[in-house]
Amino acid sequence: MFISSVEQSELQLPHEQVVVRHDAASGLSAVIALHNTQLGPAAGGCRRWSYVSTDAAVEDALRLSEGMTFKNALAGIPFGGGKSVIIARPGEDAPTSEQLAVFGQWLNELAGRYITAEDVGMGVAQMQELARHTKFAAGTGHRGVGGDPSPKTAYGVFVGIKSAIEYGLNRASVNGLHISVQGLGAVGMALCALLHQAGARLTVADIEPCRVALAKQRFGATGVDVKDINKVAADVFAPCALGGVINEAVAHEIDVSVIAGAANNQLLHNHCGDILAGRGITYAPDFVINAAGVISVGQECLMRNNYFQQADTLSLQRWAESRIQGIAYRLTRIFDMASAKGCSTDTAAKRLALSVLAQGDAQRGETVAA
Ligand code: NAI
Repeated sequence: MFISSVEQSELQLPHEQVVVRHDAASGLSAVIALHNTQLGPAAGGCRRWSYVSTDAAVEDALRLSEGMTFKNALAGIPFGGGKSVIIARPGEDAPTSEQLAVFGQWLNELAGRYITAEDVGMGVAQMQELARHTKFAAGTGHRGVGGDPSPKTAYGVFVGIKSAIEYGLNRASVNGLHISVQGLGAVGMALCALLHQAGARLTVADIEPCRVALAKQRFGATGVDVKDINKVAADVFAPCALGGVINEAVAHEIDVSVIAGAANNQLLHNHCGDILAGRGITYAPDFVINAAGVISVGQECLMRNNYFQQADTLSLQRWAESRIQGIAYRLTRIFDMASAKGCSTDTAAKRLALSVLAQGDAQRGETVAA
């Protein structure tokens, strides 16, 4: 039974370092936020987005980097939490070569305390170019390991959705379920493919009409306007666009049994998780369900740096695979904890992550990652 909200300060750790920089020559403006490096170098992607202000970019970097600390701790990987954002300038579709060179230099100055990878607006091509200037860019692939994390993230979310429907709907399969998907980018489209293949009925939305058209054609999906996707009555809602989609009004009104998707920071405020819990909606905390991408990036970094003695591709593959499959186990454990403690799943997951951090080393993270 759901009982009450918790003091959010109980769940917060301060940031270790936040860098806000502008390079006049290239026009690059970026924020690099290192939240916590207790378990290892801060790892988290680089987002390129058009922010309304520098403050908004800082706010996004702070929230995203904090989420990475929780994500990496629970995934049982030897990395802390960090994230960077590049503030896109009007009219620029992609970062210029000069900007990537400068950004690489800024990463070098952090001397390995932060490792970046793909996120919204930054794909494999950008990471590969960035990697020409710094060794602290991952998601480029190394000896056949890692590379684009998005398909892995989609697979991990699929694994997590199955765990969430088992808990929330007592269903073992998505076959026949109605699932609404917000955002048909690298992760959302790959997730739709997995859900469609498994027999789910899809309703989708994206700000790019061509992506909706593709999902209709490939998966027989129904398209709706972007402002209506969270009003769709469905079994599962999978947010796969940007953060903050579950605000108070949405939390009170959304007509689904399960919320489980890839987007980072889905809850606009922590208490939105309390509202969902109070309504009996099973919410899969984003930083648990979307961890497969960073596990894959982590695998690539460990391979490059020969982290394991006599590391071979197969043992690292097993290392990553067990952590990705472990998403199901971790979610079930978190759902049970939330139910037992009368708190939201978001709070339960953060408490579990903080307990891993309190133990102080990544190996112990394996007890929750098993
Ligand atoms: P992406 O940039 O490839 O796709 C985002 C999609 O959302 C685009 O198709 C865009 O048009 C759409 N979109 C933006 N605003 C929208 C709105 N208001 N309504 C509907 N659609 C909208 O990004 P990607 O890589 O697919 O990531 C999606 C989410 O998952 C992001 O929040 C990201 O931080 C998160 N994530 C991604 C990981 C990865 O491996 N790519 C790993 C973990 C989290």
